[in-house]
Amino acid sequence: MATNISQTHLFREIHEQPAVLRRLFIEEWATAQALADLIRERDIDNVIIAARGTSDNAGRYAQYVFGAMNGLSVGLSAPSLFSIYRRPPHMGNSLVLGISQSGQSPDIVGVLAEARRQGALTAVLTNRPASPLAEQGDVVIALHAEEERAVAATKTYTAELGAVALISAALSGAAEDRAALLALPDAVETTLSMNRAVAGAAERYRYMTRCVTAGRGFNYATAFETALKLKEMTYTIVEPYSPADFLHGPLAMIEPGFPVIVIGTTGAVADDMANFARTLRERQAELIAISDTAALLEMARIPLALPVTVPEWLSPMTAIIPGQLLAMHLANVRDYNIDSPRAIHKVTETV
Ligand code: F6R
Repeated sequence: MATNISQTHLFREIHEQPAVLRRLFIEEWATAQALADLIRERDIDNVIIAARGTSDNAGRYAQYVFGAMNGLSVGLSAPSLFSIYRRPPHMGNSLVLGISQSGQSPDIVGVLAEARRQGALTAVLTNRPASPLAEQGDVVIALHAEEERAVAATKTYTAELGAVALISAALSGAAEDRAALLALPDAVETTLSMNRAVAGAAERYRYMTRCVTAGRGFNYATAFETALKLKEMTYTIVEPYSPADFLHGPLAMIEPGFPVIVIGTTGAVADDMANFARTLRERQAELIAISDTAALLEMARIPLALPVTVPEWLSPMTAIIPGQLLAMHLANVRDYNIDSPRAIHKVTETV
């Protein structure tokens, strides 16, 4: 029997996201500024991120935000170099940033502990400011998401993105960036109105066994996170790609009716995403578009229109909403447990 969705933790947590972002932006502005001051004082120009799963996708977002907005180069760490090979690379004058809702996973804690030992600046974004990971942070930004009960992370993911955006705005110091950030929770709230449209779309994909998600730039992270939610909640094989990578081979998989979720919002990558959608259409893929641009939406079999346009650097916090809703509704039409998918737990400890 399908569950009454609105009674699930996941539904409530998806809908709490505007409130979480509002809290975060107010409570953590001063800490984000303190971190920005340290980055400037120490003349740091590169960031190494340690994270897993959903939090790693927040790291992917940071790669583009810190790069495009703040001129920082960002790399994602390889924790097994620290834990299994025991050959930690030199982290020198870097900011080493741990991102984790639980702050528990030993491999991520290990990267931060070694960074500290080497004298790097460490910072932690976590929903658990009293966790082992937080202990390793010179600066700790709390996510203020309150307890997340559904196994699949939703509100902690957008809070992690929000924390990254907050640091970026503190670093740029531009009043316009801060104002855009403060306007974002209302935009996320408006985007939640897509729930009904997404529920309708989910029925059509009840028997889908495989699909691709595509996003570029800031929304490369959205392609990964949409894919992760679909995989863990609906057990579908979902491969996330940048269109640029997809054209270098995987395009050959596309046959008539192959479902592709194309995520493209107003901004620098919009034309490229529309061109990509055209290529897929020529190959008769089944296109689902998550977009606020007419060019992309009108090419899709299932257009999921984002009701509000936000600056491109903040768009991953609105563009992920339909992906979260789709995973929830698809799990529901398949009679899967929405709050507790098979085989996985809220805290995963990896080495
Ligand atoms: C997915 C999910 C996991 C976690 C991962 C890392 O919805 O929740 O992929 O993101 O286990 O967990 P934390 O953030 O606690 O380190």
